[in-house]
Amino acid sequence: MTKNKYILAIESSCDDTSVAVVDISYNIVVMNTSSQPEHVVFGGVLPELASRLHMKNILILVESCLQQSHLSLEEMSAVAISINPGLIGSLLVGLSFAKSLAWALNLPLITVNHMLGHVFANHLVHGYIDPPYLALVVSGGHTELINFESDTVFTCVGKTLDDAAGETFDKAAKLLGIGYPGGPVIDKLAKNGNPSFYNFPLALKQKNDYNFSYSGLKTAILQFLSSHEENWIKEHQADLAASIQYAIVTPLVKKTVRYAKLNNIHTILIAGGVAANSYLRAQMDKAAAQIHAKVFYPSLTLCMDNAAMIAAAAIPKFFKGEFADLSVNAFSDKGTRYI
Ligand code: KG4
Ligand code: ZN
Repeated sequence: MTKNKYILAIESSCDDTSVAVVDISYNIVVMNTSSQPEHVVFGGVLPELASRLHMKNILILVESCLQQSHLSLEEMSAVAISINPGLIGSLLVGLSFAKSLAWALNLPLITVNHMLGHVFANHLVHGYIDPPYLALVVSGGHTELINFESDTVFTCVGKTLDDAAGETFDKAAKLLGIGYPGGPVIDKLAKNGNPSFYNFPLALKQKNDYNFSYSGLKTAILQFLSSHEENWIKEHQADLAASIQYAIVTPLVKKTVRYAKLNNIHTILIAGGVAANSYLRAQMDKAAAQIHAKVFYPSLTLCMDNAAMIAAAAIPKFFKGEFADLSVNAFSDKGTRYI
């Protein structure tokens, strides 16, 4: 019997510290994630605090993964780490830890782009999905439409020119005074609201390209809310949430499905925190069915930042023997890329 090969992966790019062991057939053996509720009072992530909390949590999470899986560090075949994009201090905590482990255990180090990890989260849920496919990557900092020819060759065919979809959810929730992060709260509230209550401008920008723009919508939400009384806003919270959600989601669905249709693509992967949005899922499924395309989403847990997706994105590199030198550095530039 051949011995299974395991990748120990670490994710620390923003405010979640996560450690996972994943085998090279995309099965999650164990994963432990520690989120940082300490940021909630600030209404956003405090970078210095995030780095310090990663330092506090990372070793505890590695130890609990090993304990729960009954595996030892010596049974790992590689260490995977996300090194871009993200908060530089947070990335460096994870990278330094991963380098030390790889060096001490004489294991290969595999460096991964966090956004590519979000796309690869789909393989953990549905089994390996054969390219070509179109991926819509929608998170707190990114809104990108990416055409994948293979696991390692892909092109960004559209992206936001200003704010990201997740960021717009978060800003809208802040203006509505309903908490952080905004996406899940708006999603929940909107279930009891009317999406046609108010027509906020759709973030379509040019109708004939595949870019997005959310700054106009953000300004429109701000202007609308500041011209209404607090009590009125509170009373119509669900309708406003549904109308805002409609304006954020509609361009995502329209542009993704139009690109797939015109380029004869029948597989669409949705990825990133906003992939958890129930309205996006329902609308995307409906529109894709009309062009006979199949849509894949990660599970709700795997939509969020997690280490298993970092291991998944490391698997093609593991097979190709593409290992990083221990002098490798982290960097914060945005974008989904093969690094
Ligand atoms: O991918 P992610 O966990 O972190 C980044 O890499 O940015 O995404 C976080 C984003 C936040 O903006 C959050 O509001 C959004 O994902 N989000 C949602 C939902 N759950 C999380 N947006 C809409 N609907 C949701 N259910
Ligand atoms: Zn993320």
